[in-house]
Amino acid sequence: MDTRVKTESAFDLGAWSARHLDGVERALERWVTAEAPAGVDHGAPAELVEAMRYAVLDGGKRLRPLLVMAAWEAVTSDRVGADATRPAVPHEAALRAACAVELIHAYSLVHDDMPCMDNDVLRRGKPTVHVKFGEASALLAGDALQALAFELLTPELEGMPAERQARLCRLLARAAGSAGMAGGQAIDLASVGVSLTESQLRDMHRLKTGALLQASVMMGAACGDASAEAQAALKTYGAAIGLAFQVVDDILDVTADSATLGKTAGKDADQDKPTYVSVLGLERSAAHAQELLGQALAALAQSGLRNTQALQGLANMVVNRSC
Ligand code: IPE
Ligand code: IPE
Ligand code: MG
Ligand code: MG
Ligand code: MG
Repeated sequence: MDTRVKTESAFDLGAWSARHLDGVERALERWVTAEAPAGVDHGAPAELVEAMRYAVLDGGKRLRPLLVMAAWEAVTSDRVGADATRPAVPHEAALRAACAVELIHAYSLVHDDMPCMDNDVLRRGKPTVHVKFGEASALLAGDALQALAFELLTPELEGMPAERQARLCRLLARAAGSAGMAGGQAIDLASVGVSLTESQLRDMHRLKTGALLQASVMMGAACGDASAEAQAALKTYGAAIGLAFQVVDDILDVTADSATLGKTAGKDADQDKPTYVSVLGLERSAAHAQELLGQALAALAQSGLRNTQALQGLANMVVNRSC
């Protein structure tokens, strides 16, 4: 008898990711450009666009776009299975949402690295944007990436009705703004040299990193028609992996090297930033990340969604990654 484990039907996260990333990379390459959009009679300054492209293209794990696509697929396949007579959710909306989140993320990294924030010289294995292009260009490249994200979400396109566009913009704006990433970054800067409680640290991490990851999941769901039950479960999943992501980022800052990370290792302690490692220690931080993974997977199991393998795989990747 053949006792080998059957792998035909096993989910291959690598192949799944490669398939989606191919589309995302091509779309980013097309959309982050100096060409004037249709109906606009002027393009953008080449040097500014060069800095934007440098910040966005050729690098990064692209976790946020993958979460958008995974959530979209989960709610779409569910819906198609449930009612094959309804039109398929347009892929274009999900692709735009995926790229928009990545643009906001890339902008947050450009600003995070600037001398007025973390003052980092290495990002995605390359000199940071302000090192390469100067501080003013880095500031403006970040601003322009943020604006472009919202432009991508508001195309004149059949299949992307105004209501869906508004919902996507609202989710992204909330996650990026003062009650999300920017707010968390403000708390981060105000916390240098301060000893935070675990609950204060959790709140900071939820805002500065968790909000955008959770929004990625919710934006993917918003490109379909997730049931209220599925939306609630995906929200819980997004919150759990969003926090876990920053817990693991804090751990890797201590345990990994700069070459592996593509960014400067060891800088949290150097800059006296409160992190999960400084508050809980390495072992408890790692255990907490696994606990959050358990919460994320449990939420998926209760979501009523059938096609959640990619979301499961990405949750595992968030917690068990090495860079
Ligand atoms: C780094 O994010 C910044 C944090 C929110 C911790 P990623 O680790 O996702 O960075 P890239 O996109 O892979 O470069
Ligand atoms: C950054 O957190 C979170 C952002 C919103 C960009 P970190 O400052 O820890 O991210 P890295 O370690 O520089 O990527
Ligand atoms: Mg920072
Ligand atoms: Mg930083
Ligand atoms: Mg970090």
